[in-house]
Amino acid sequence: MTTKVLWQIGLLLLLASEMISLDCGLIVQYQKDEIGKTRTLLETMGGPWNLQECPENPDFGFPLVKICTCSKEDARMAVGLIIESIQIVFQHNFTQAQWNATATELFQRVLDQQYVTWRRCSTAEVGNRAAFKDLCVKLAMKKYFRKLHMFLRDRQHSLCAWERVRDEVSVIYPIVLNELMKRLEN
Ligand SMILES: *[C@@H]1O[C@H](CO)[C@@H](O)[C@H](O)[C@H]1NC(C)=O
Ligand SMILES: *[C@@H]1O[C@H](CO)[C@@H](O)[C@H](O)[C@H]1NC(C)=O
Repeated sequence: MTTKVLWQIGLLLLLASEMISLDCGLIVQYQKDEIGKTRTLLETMGGPWNLQECPENPDFGFPLVKICTCSKEDARMAVGLIIESIQIVFQHNFTQAQWNATATELFQRVLDQQYVTWRRCSTAEVGNRAAFKDLCVKLAMKKYFRKLHMFLRDRQHSLCAWERVRDEVSVIYPIVLNELMKRLEN
């Protein structure tokens, strides 16, 4: 088990060093390859969803339309913001979710790598003061992620609250990222 963990971490470090030299022109392809892997880790973390035991099913209302109609520059900014916001959600206390520690750590590392890559490549292209052109896109996303934070907090980070959030992110992350990658390719 320990050897396997070390091996996985070693592999990640190798991938990380490769990523440092990643040509920013390839970033869309890189991110597309990451989507499935990230979702699988999210699934592995907690095993099969136990949502039938958790009746509460809120609609967090991801602002997909706003994001799909935004400019290319904002799409690029949105990718960074979404990845960063998901990272912050998963910094909440997940003791009660009883996740697989190895998969959870891998998930966090993979997200961190994606975030670093996007930030590096978008500041390289847009300059240091990259900012959203349409502030509504940013505000809509902030509002959405605030709902996730409040949901977790108000339910004292219960197992059910986490199952909902993990399910929500596993649905939203691939849909939104795939849409944004399509937008950036055209
Ligand atoms: C996280 O939650 C667990 C169980 O609810 C609690 O025992 C622990 O103290 C919390 N950890 C932090 C850092 O708040
Ligand atoms: C925990 O996750 C790791 C990495 O994905 C996996 O290899 C391992 O089998 C998982 N452990 C359990 C108990 O499911």
